[in-house]
Amino acid sequence: MAILSIITAPDRRLKVKSKPVETVDDDIRRFLDDMLETMYQAPGIGLSAVQVGVAKNLITVDVSRDDEDNAPLFLINPEIVEYSEQIETYNEGCLSLPEYFADLPRPEAITLNYLDYDGAQQQLQAEGLLSRSIQHEMDHLKGKLFVDYLSAVKRGMILRKLDKARRQKVSA
Ligand code: NI
Repeated sequence: MAILSIITAPDRRLKVKSKPVETVDDDIRRFLDDMLETMYQAPGIGLSAVQVGVAKNLITVDVSRDDEDNAPLFLINPEIVEYSEQIETYNEGCLSLPEYFADLPRPEAITLNYLDYDGAQQQLQAEGLLSRSIQHEMDHLKGKLFVDYLSAVKRGMILRKLDKARRQKVSA
């Protein structure tokens, strides 16, 4: 397995819309293993393939707590088929926007169709943090970051700060 490098905003590659995976084969599984390892190492609770530069509909998620066993979830070609009417607000962060968090309302629960690690069709009902994390990662597949929900002024401020921080890192 390998640790992949996570792209941080602002970067045009994060705006790319991801494409469905046609065949779930060993290459895809190897890549998912690398994504999971990268996510754990970051550390994060969710990662989309586009964040490591591969515009395919692939997501890894694990919302287990530190004192619980790992509970990795591999989502291939995920599709939300139902949203709850109940909305919840949560302070959300993103591995591609390090150190920035914002309160964001989202549907509390979802029903999701996806292919699993073996390419089998699955349906999942998710709520709370799992639902939140999946919705966040699925936004990545559409080329959307959580800051895109914020006002243009606030978004611009965050992205400029990140851009400046990254340029300083590169020149250091
Ligand atoms: Ni993210």
